[in-house]
Amino acid sequence: MEYAFEALLDYLRQSHGFDFTTYKRPSLMRRVQNRMQALSIESYSDYLDYIKEDPEEFTPLFNTIEINFTGFFRDPEAWNYIAKAIIPRIIASKSESEPIRVWSAGCASGEETYTLAILLAEALGVEQYKARVQIYATDVDTEALNQSRQGSYLSSQVVGVPPTLLERYFEQIAERYIFDKDLRRSIIFCRHNLIQDAPMSKIDLLVCRNVLIYFNTEAQTKTLARFHFSLKDSGFLFLGMSEMLPIYTNFFNPLNLRQRVFTKIPRSHVNQRLLNSALLRRH
Ligand SMILES: C[S@@+](CC[C@H](N)C(=O)[O-])C[C@H]1O[C@@H](n2cnc3c(N)ncnc32)[C@H](O)[C@@H]1O
Repeated sequence: MEYAFEALLDYLRQSHGFDFTTYKRPSLMRRVQNRMQALSIESYSDYLDYIKEDPEEFTPLFNTIEINFTGFFRDPEAWNYIAKAIIPRIIASKSESEPIRVWSAGCASGEETYTLAILLAEALGVEQYKARVQIYATDVDTEALNQSRQGSYLSSQVVGVPPTLLERYFEQIAERYIFDKDLRRSIIFCRHNLIQDAPMSKIDLLVCRNVLIYFNTEAQTKTLARFHFSLKDSGFLFLGMSEMLPIYTNFFNPLNLRQRVFTKIPRSHVNQRLLNSALLRRH
């Protein structure tokens, strides 16, 4: 263990409330080193001194660490809640022939999207899944999106997938794990900028995790208003663990605040003026 690095993580947790201690060390260290190189700083302890002196350094560091950071079953407790409480509710609210529409917004390299696909296939069975599920996987970053489309991961990237699910849903070819091609057909990958592009519609479950945190309050409000439009009245919104957005209360009610799952406030109850002004600001 690199003590100076752990000391830096402790400091970030205590002073900025961001807990990176659960992140995998090699990629986390690489990202912090990128930031250190940009500042010509050579040791973690010097960097810790630097960030103590200049708290504003937290923002570029955070962006370097988080920008495409993702993982299968990231925050397992929250995904467990989605599997046990939300997906069964969505299925129970529909007839066996009705489609299930899911949007993974800001999907990065696809781990979140395939986590969703696995949980839906587990709940529905593969045949029902293939007949009914449609997943939109969108991101503004075309490079990340290309990786998503491939559905091909190194063993270090699939550590979060429970072994039985890894065996069931991935084919191992040489050192790579390839997500089941048949199930992948239900996923539509497309470039989409949450701030500019028209939102998807009639969504049952909208997963947008660790994306809104990069937006300013105006962009967050606009995006949440669009998410409100995107979701069916019975739909669910699932945000990231560090996303406590006070403005969500204009559009959504918390269903499980700890796991960041929300239900839509019916359109007639939303402050109409707020909704209109947020939606109009997209032009
Ligand atoms: C930290 S990653 C989160 C990945 C995944 N949702 C997760 O929680 O594991 C943030 C992703 O948001 C994407 N993103 C940032 N701004 C965006 C925007 N305006 N529209 C769509 N995606 C955006 C980035 O390209 C990146 O892939």
